[in-house]
Amino acid sequence: AITRNFSSSAPQIAIKTVTVVGGGLMGSGIAQVAAQAGQNVTLVDLRPELLDKAQKSIQNNLTRVGKKMYKDDASKVEHFVNDSFNRIKVSTQIEDGVNADLIIEAIVEKLDVKQELFNKLDQLAPEHTILATNTSSISINEIGAGIKRKDRYGGLHFFNPVPVMRLLEVIKGEGISDSTYQTMMEWGKSIGKTCITCKDTPGFVVNRLLGPYSAEALRMYERGDASKEDIDIGMKLGGGYPMGPFELADYTGLDTNKFALQVMYEKTENPVFKPIPLLNRMVAEGKLGIKTGEGFYKYKK
Ligand code: NAI
Repeated sequence: AITRNFSSSAPQIAIKTVTVVGGGLMGSGIAQVAAQAGQNVTLVDLRPELLDKAQKSIQNNLTRVGKKMYKDDASKVEHFVNDSFNRIKVSTQIEDGVNADLIIEAIVEKLDVKQELFNKLDQLAPEHTILATNTSSISINEIGAGIKRKDRYGGLHFFNPVPVMRLLEVIKGEGISDSTYQTMMEWGKSIGKTCITCKDTPGFVVNRLLGPYSAEALRMYERGDASKEDIDIGMKLGGGYPMGPFELADYTGLDTNKFALQVMYEKTENPVFKPIPLLNRMVAEGKLGIKTGEGFYKYKK
């Protein structure tokens, strides 16, 4: 007789309904791209005012996408925007979102808060539901430590801004089944992303490599080796990057950069991630980049 391992050979499911928990910068973008691809989405956030804000930003972004797709055909643009927008239900109650094929968590970057949410989702969601986290810096396995469905759990790490950045990192948790992994990869493709796979390691692929690059750029500037403008020009024209490291730091936020370096230093003890006095000083002064009007460069608010 052939023995079958049901958890790893269960047939792949096609994702039709998606719930996104956390309606901030990332969650609203994830909800948008899933709705655009024709999936039914529930967006959950604790705060109703953040759901309002998410809906406004989704509508604006959909209009931008629609205009690009349909040029001057106003009725087609309108149809696209309304059609996608109407696929997104919003709620402040997690119970409204548990009946989904895939639930993606994009809430605050705090281990205990995420663990509590996943334990609840694990209990409330139907058997077949796949759970995923969009964390950037916490271990996938630690977040999912308390859940039973480890075979239906993994990381789906998006990049900001979600509707624009084409990459999705699919992170394999220690218990993930082949069918869950394949379903996640297929889902990524279905929303127009190119997927890469990484084990549950600090920074995964992209942030693990961008960290040392950005840290070395800061140190180079701090030592006075070159101006920030020249380093940015150098990496754009000579390195082929769309933005220089200081432009990128201002875009992502200096507080986020500081946090990412700190986490990676704690986890890897690689001295390349050591704290950078210049970065710490700027964060303490509230110069966080575009969002505060000033970082390495000044911005009109
Ligand atoms: P954000 O602060 O813009 O949004 C977080 C949202 O979650 C807020 O609207 C908050 O009200 C809500 N929230 C908090 N606790 C909740 C709970 N228990 N239930 C429901 N909603 C809750 O944060 P952002 O930037 O969108 O990040 C979210 C996650 O995505 C984090 O894990 C972060 O590491 C990850 N991430 C962030 C990236 C970025 O560039 N900002 C890039 C890739 C991943």
